[in-house]
Amino acid sequence: MKRIGLLGCGAIGTQIALAIDSGKIPATLTHVYDTKRSQADNLVSKLKLKPEVVANSHLLSSNPVDLVVEAASQDAVRKDAVSILQNKKDLMIMSAGALLDQSVFEVISDACKDFGKTVYLPSGAIAGLDVLKAVKDELESVVLVTTKNPASLKDAPFFDSSDIDPEKISEPTVLFDGKAKEAVSLFPKNINVAALLSLVGLGSENTSVRVVADPNTNKNTHHIEANGKFGKLTITVENVPDPTNPKTSRLATLSAIELLRQICTKEVQIGT
Ligand SMILES: NC(=O)c1ccc[n+]([C@@H]2O[C@H](COP(=O)([O-])OP(=O)(O)OC[C@H]3O[C@@H](n4cnc5c(N)ncnc54)[C@H](O)[C@@H]3O)[C@@H](O)[C@H]2O)c1
Repeated sequence: MKRIGLLGCGAIGTQIALAIDSGKIPATLTHVYDTKRSQADNLVSKLKLKPEVVANSHLLSSNPVDLVVEAASQDAVRKDAVSILQNKKDLMIMSAGALLDQSVFEVISDACKDFGKTVYLPSGAIAGLDVLKAVKDELESVVLVTTKNPASLKDAPFFDSSDIDPEKISEPTVLFDGKAKEAVSLFPKNINVAALLSLVGLGSENTSVRVVADPNTNKNTHHIEANGKFGKLTITVENVPDPTNPKTSRLATLSAIELLRQICTKEVQIGT
């Protein structure tokens, strides 16, 4: 069985750990780390098979694990991804937004080649990445419209330089209409979906993003339209937010659990 190290013990990390503990993912969770020790301790208290809580992120990958799952933050990706690959561990990244920085993407991509390791990015809170991968060479446009309750967006840096008060939004309001490259700095905690679409498709300078705050919704909705020689893709995912972190969609966690299960299982693999 593969040995897993977990970097980040919040909403997603906890559900992944529980899925390993219950046997849904055939693997062993051996080590966990969180900058907040209490988060790691709280997670371990929920598990039957107790992993070791390590004192820093380096100890996660210097221990004999096969794969590290990052479910922490973009900072964690910037700080730890390369050393995890250098330590000859595969890596699953949830904070995909970090890879929109071209220099970060390049060092991680080079490290995969140099050390013969794989970085996995689950589809997260959207569907349709399989299509975009397959039609990449024929894509002409990709547009993402993300609609969330203002409460799920209110900590975004966007509001630091805007006249809009998230507490006072009373009707659906377009907060941002531009390219993914700019959206990453204005909505860093909501940008993972735009990052995945950009990385798979046309890049962050050619992927259009609209962010809508809708006080009448309790869903995180992503509507994607892609056009090209292949035809047209239109897809809408209405996500239920995670009960412990409303910025995170339940689907993001389920998608990570399923990819990890596939990585840890020898079986027929269906889907692109
Ligand atoms: N790919 C996707 O579609 C998708 C969807 C939702 C969330 N995410 C991303 O996944 C990550 C985890 O999401 P979550 O909902 O579990 O967040 P969360 O806030 O519930 O948990 C994150 C945990 O990581 C810890 N942490 C933060 N920085 C750290 C670091 N450098 N080293 C170690 N621990 C650190 C925090 O203390 C916290 O306990 C976030 O970056 C989030 O933006 C991705």
